[in-house]
Amino acid sequence: MQDIIERLEKMRAAAKLGGGQARIDKQHQKGKLTARERIDLLLDEGSFEEWDMFVEHRCTDFGMADKKIPGDGVVTGYGTINSRLVFVYSQDFTVFGGSLSEAHAEKICKVMQQAMKVGAPIIGMNDSGGARIQEGVASLGGYADVFQQNVLASGVVPQISLIMGPCAGGAVYSPAITDFIFMVKDSSYMFVTGPDVVKTVTHETVTAEELGGAITHNTKSGVADRAFENDVEALTLTRRFVNFLPSSNREPAPVWDSQDPVNRMEPSLDSLIPDDPAKPYDIKELIIKIADESDFFEIQPDYAQNIVVGFIRIEGQSVGVIANQPMVLAGCLDVDASKKGARFIRFCDAFNIPILTLVDVPGFMPGTAQEYGGIIKNGAKLLYAYAEATVPKVTLITRKAYGGAYDVMASKHLRGDVNYAWPSAEIAVMGPKGAVEIIFRGDIGDDKKITARTEEYRQKFANPFIAGSRGYIDDVIMPHNTRARVARSLKMLRDKELDNPWRKHGNIPL
Ligand code: HXC
Repeated sequence: MQDIIERLEKMRAAAKLGGGQARIDKQHQKGKLTARERIDLLLDEGSFEEWDMFVEHRCTDFGMADKKIPGDGVVTGYGTINSRLVFVYSQDFTVFGGSLSEAHAEKICKVMQQAMKVGAPIIGMNDSGGARIQEGVASLGGYADVFQQNVLASGVVPQISLIMGPCAGGAVYSPAITDFIFMVKDSSYMFVTGPDVVKTVTHETVTAEELGGAITHNTKSGVADRAFENDVEALTLTRRFVNFLPSSNREPAPVWDSQDPVNRMEPSLDSLIPDDPAKPYDIKELIIKIADESDFFEIQPDYAQNIVVGFIRIEGQSVGVIANQPMVLAGCLDVDASKKGARFIRFCDAFNIPILTLVDVPGFMPGTAQEYGGIIKNGAKLLYAYAEATVPKVTLITRKAYGGAYDVMASKHLRGDVNYAWPSAEIAVMGPKGAVEIIFRGDIGDDKKITARTEEYRQKFANPFIAGSRGYIDDVIMPHNTRARVARSLKMLRDKELDNPWRKHGNIPL
């Protein structure tokens, strides 16, 4: 018995040391934490239960038979974040570069399957050289097994990928399927083919950072959702982020204590909208003033900034916010903004998180770049996502709601539950100037007539009353009272029940 316990202790010590002190030091020199240090920071102290510490690879080629490290390059198990259960895996770069063997993949799949059974989020910390080269197709099969579990878990439990080192080749497709990708600046990168292959095939010279670093994926490609300064910031903010999410699709979003009075007035909002309709203002000011304790966790803050998405709480309940941003491209909807908004809405709908939509949109972005980029199909994604969503939907039009974009942005017609407008709302087919130039084309050149017609159109449509008279707007609310009115609507909607007709799955215009 004693010898077994001693052997066990030896194996535990070997597993904890991973690839050895020299490789751990190298990891630290790169500014990276080890797989275990990451888990310790992510989870509540002392809550981690490790699984499969004694798993080893089964490869015998290329001298691998006598190169075995218990745990095989990934630390897996479960623990808690603010006392709520989560499952984790953390790739250990000190063991064969965190590369994925068949056994390594089996460990990941095991925690994923368990997470789905009990209904808890999965957080993956990725730091890996990709498929274990010595294993050949066995490791490729392992990746496919992980992808399959990612797909089955999609919409069942929240999945978060932290990219904290290399993530290249087919390996990128596991994070890509998950709900959120958070990258660490300077130490992480994601690409399907690296700079060397790029050079050979397309003759482009590019660094790994330029090709797939955190900034690239957070500003250009939209692949990632946030970029953090270092491992510690990424892990700390992931803890904060998880607080917004329900554990699974079987549960409502969590409700946390809030000290912020729900009827808090915000007189400053009465002057948020500039007198000149062409002048921008920052929609984030409104979001922050509606939110409990001004706490707003933004998703993709640096990508498609003409739409703002993220999580707040109202009366302690998580709410997904989607808002046009007049500060960028006047808040127009384009290809990137439509994709960003649609994906966020679908996450909220899959996980029972109510949606608050703040509308100030002059329309879809015109131009060849947008048409060739498929604004028709991409704009339809946003429309589809709103139309299929059955969670509570509260909408507020602050200023412009023009054209197709009025329809799309959670209008009454797309089953908006409560649709409010501020007195400054303008709901029309298009802006006054454009409208007059079309319907009174004959008057072009006669400035006096055009000005009079424009004023007439503005008087008629640049207000919320016509939409109100048809019941498309439930009420016109005062800006300073917005938090209280939205909160009351969300409370009324807490037990909302709505089902779409049965189908295997819809066919969203991908
Ligand atoms: C086995 C690997 C490995 C791998 C790294 N190592 N990648 N072992 N399989 N894929 C080992 C190295 O041999 C080394 O071992 C240790 O990990 C650290 O690697 P270094 O190269 O010293 O580290 P660094 O300089 O930081 O470079 C990291 C790296 C580089 C950029 C990730 O290692 C690299 O390019 N690796 C190969 C990447 C790759 O081509 N992977 C296959 C992709 S294809 P020692 O013992 O010296 O410490 C793929 C297909 C998936 O993933 C398909 C899914 C559909």
